[in-house]
Amino acid sequence: MLTIILAAGKGKRMMSKLPKVLHTLAGKPMLGWILDTCSKFFDSTEKNRVIIVLHPEMVDVLSYIKNWKENEHNLEISAVFQTEQLGSGHAALMAREYVACCEEGDSVLLLSGDVPLIGVKTLKALSEAQKGVSAAVLTVYSQNPQGYGRVLMNSNGEVERIIEDKDLQPLQKEIGLINAGVYALDAHALNTAFDFLDNNNAQKEYYLPQIIEILAAQGKHICSVQVEDALEVQGVNDRLQLVQLEKELRKRIARHWLQQGVTIRDIDNTFIDADVKIGLDTVVEPYSFISGKTKIGENCQIGPFTQMEDCEVANRCKIERSHLKQVKVHNNVQIGPFARLREGTVLEEETRIGDFVELKKTRMGRGAKAQHLSYLGDSDIGEEVNIGAGTITCNYDGFNKHETIIEKRAFIGSNTSLVAPVHIGAGAIVGAGSVIVEDVEADALALGRGIQIQKPGRALQIREKNRKKKKEGEFNAL
Ligand code: UD1
Ligand code: CA
Repeated sequence: MLTIILAAGKGKRMMSKLPKVLHTLAGKPMLGWILDTCSKFFDSTEKNRVIIVLHPEMVDVLSYIKNWKENEHNLEISAVFQTEQLGSGHAALMAREYVACCEEGDSVLLLSGDVPLIGVKTLKALSEAQKGVSAAVLTVYSQNPQGYGRVLMNSNGEVERIIEDKDLQPLQKEIGLINAGVYALDAHALNTAFDFLDNNNAQKEYYLPQIIEILAAQGKHICSVQVEDALEVQGVNDRLQLVQLEKELRKRIARHWLQQGVTIRDIDNTFIDADVKIGLDTVVEPYSFISGKTKIGENCQIGPFTQMEDCEVANRCKIERSHLKQVKVHNNVQIGPFARLREGTVLEEETRIGDFVELKKTRMGRGAKAQHLSYLGDSDIGEEVNIGAGTITCNYDGFNKHETIIEKRAFIGSNTSLVAPVHIGAGAIVGAGSVIVEDVEADALALGRGIQIQKPGRALQIREKNRKKKKEGEFNAL
């Protein structure tokens, strides 16, 4: 089967410099949704041809496709270009050489890049229905059909014509059966129908749905396959449609996790991306944004107010009011409130990261703690190390980043600056307020601060002197 995805349209109504198919829904570009569905729809052992029709300037889409291909392998994807956007029919025509190469009896699946949530089951039903006829059109009944092409049926219950919204006669506006923009066609029939496409319509465009009218006029049989779930065929033409669709989609994702044994406390205010995985008995509190390929284990508490992107979290972890990106968290870890954990951070079991702690490319060994106000960057922290409040790794000299290594059970006193590269041995103690510029050997006490001096009674003298001065001042002013 040959699949053609139309994605060259200007997407004018989006008012965006970004090609429409790269706008995301629950973290995944619309094109990604369609490609993922195609990949599931086809048998994974066989390579299936997918042609994407693009405008030559859509280089970002080309790189997205290249990336996508690196993860999924069962689709043979090529792009063809439509230089002038003369309509959806003209766009399909750009893939004609592939249609012409199809064998007798082959089918062509035509998808719209802006109808992203089409499901695998629906595509199966559509291609099954097409087997006995020349074409199958995906349709849906809508209470609010405005803007969509309307599907006209003949007395035999077959599709006769699709009329675009702008070409409708006043009475036809009442028709509720709409064209979803998804079709399965016999390749040969499509190829011959291409010859008859014209642009005699309100928008002076070559409409793809005209193919249906051409085939019907040739006496070919065309069936309509109705989808029950309107969300699957919701088109995205502007940003309002995008956010409305995303809202509904996010609710569905949340409901899915509720059914899988995850508590989502407030489904309207929790934002979970499509590819996220969450384990049993985990509770996600409101205003949490869990995105990318994040994987969360069982019995965790996430949020409230937590943002996580591409993280891996094991079991029984609590992450409250924090921001995590590309972080790996092992079992029984507590994070937050108000922690910021950046890329390359690894927290071994039982670690604790408290408020206003920032970690970057840092491994915290088992049971290590940084509970308050710290920055640890490019560091390897051993097990059961205690990082006192206000400890900072000075990892950047203005040119390069340097590493800090702290070995197990060392104790770093509050308000310490560790000037990297530096190595603190196991069990060492660093006195509070130190600036550590040299390595500290195991079990040593290191102090890197001014020595305290004390002058007994001197405070009283200072106070007496100041009081006198103030009085004299008042006297002189009289
Ligand atoms: C289209 C259908 C309409 C259907 C609706 C469903 C046409 C003429 N109309 O309308 O019957 O109800 O989808 O969502 O097809 N494209 C190109 N090149 C172009 C023009 C369009 O590649 O020159 C692509 C677009 O990127 C898009 C698809 O074709 O993926 C449909 O075009 P669009 O302009 O969005 O058509 P609609 O008005 O939504
Ligand atoms: Ca559209």
